[in-house]
Amino acid sequence: MANRSGKVIVSPSALAADFLHLDKEIEMINASDADWLHIDVMDGVFVPNISMGSPVIKSISQALRKPMDVHLMIVDPGRYVNMFRDLGATLLNVHYEACTHLHRVVQQIRDAGMRPAVTLNPATPVSVLEDIISDIDMVLLMSVNPGFGGQKFIVNTLRRIERLRKLIDSRGANALIEIDGGINGETGAQCVSAGADVLVAGSYVFASADPMAAIRTLKSL
Ligand code: DX5
Ligand code: ZN
Repeated sequence: MANRSGKVIVSPSALAADFLHLDKEIEMINASDADWLHIDVMDGVFVPNISMGSPVIKSISQALRKPMDVHLMIVDPGRYVNMFRDLGATLLNVHYEACTHLHRVVQQIRDAGMRPAVTLNPATPVSVLEDIISDIDMVLLMSVNPGFGGQKFIVNTLRRIERLRKLIDSRGANALIEIDGGINGETGAQCVSAGADVLVAGSYVFASADPMAAIRTLKSL
């Protein structure tokens, strides 16, 4: 089953960038075929790691000429919706597992002028989205356990993509399917043939000798 958007959307993950030379990394993204930049925010509570906060994201946002796809790995993300709007997020991903009132948080994101997306951990069934799928712009399926870059792709994700694609189509919904974790040319191709629309890639892009070519490879899948 091919993805519906026709062309793969590529969202390199800044978590794997060289933070000492972020200006060069953002220039590379601006000049590349990347569609978005993926920003991972970790609080050390929802996931066992801490990543970047508002000062760094603000600097990125000032230099970036592409939409920011922000992935919040934090508890109770509804508290920070307006902060991420002010930081320039276009898409705001919140974890299903981190929201007691998911519908309210999705509404808050929409009302703040951003595109709401819901993220699922690898063990959370895609069926939990049945009653919210028509209200969101994207589902982010984690293909690794969140918290760290450079992990191995979980192959069961492919079956999850197929099930999610069926759910979206059966409801006539428009949500994009984004995959995050362990994406390279090979796993990316498998995700796209299973029905993914958006690929996040951290180490595959930023640890590559030629990041722009790695982005082109993903874009051509
Ligand atoms: C993991 C993050 C990912 C990470 C992906 O918790 O959500 O976005 O940066 O890194 P790679 O592509 O190296 O698996
Ligand atoms: Zn992410």
